[in-house]
Amino acid sequence: MAKTYAIAIDGPAGAGKSTIAKRLAAELGYYYVDTGAIYRTVAYFLDLLGVSPKDVDGVERYIDELTIEIEYDAEGKQHMLMNGMDVTGEIRTQDISQKASLVSAHAVVREVLLDMQRDVAKAHNVIMDGRDIGTVVLPKADVKIFLTASAEVRAKRRTDELIAKGQKAEFDVVLKEIQQRDYQDTHREIAPLKMARDSIKLDTSELDIEGVVAAMKKIIGEKIPL
Ligand code: DC
Repeated sequence: MAKTYAIAIDGPAGAGKSTIAKRLAAELGYYYVDTGAIYRTVAYFLDLLGVSPKDVDGVERYIDELTIEIEYDAEGKQHMLMNGMDVTGEIRTQDISQKASLVSAHAVVREVLLDMQRDVAKAHNVIMDGRDIGTVVLPKADVKIFLTASAEVRAKRRTDELIAKGQKAEFDVVLKEIQQRDYQDTHREIAPLKMARDSIKLDTSELDIEGVVAAMKKIIGEKIPL
């Protein structure tokens, strides 16, 4: 099989991972894999069944009834299929963000999703974003970048994004949720959010999208033929 390249992007919620990764993937002709969407799909499925994301027994009991597929449309947009149903839009709420963070702490969930993520990277050049891509999912990724920004900047971006989508969002509430999610994602026992030793940190607080894309291209270009 021909060599495939993998770019791993990790970082906290709202650091700009998906916006930037989508842009870069389109420019480089790579697949963009949003792994958060996979955890969100699990959270959404359990939510529909009325299973609390903290209820490990419930999660273990029902996870086998869920089949997740990742599909890409003609524009390269990632779609999430939950037992054959496209839930790409439904999983993008603040409620599901929180539940995904809680559900992602369970070993059984992380195990089930690990191979799915690795299989995509085996078959394609990928830019994959998440929390544990450089540390656990693709420890041999060709490039690892840790994208971060202050909690305030991330909350402001997330608030604007939700409002632009027609959802209700208040900065103070979003900030609290982001801080709570940061805490949960960095303090869980299995595959917590942390910077891989060989990752390059990029703080996007003071940068606009173009600035981040340019900085990322420079980092990537030093490791991969573009
Ligand atoms: O990137 P996101 O905000 O869509 O992710 C939602 C939650 O899923 C996040 O708070 C933690 C979890 N997650 C994870 O544990 N590991 C990943 N690789 C990606 C997301």
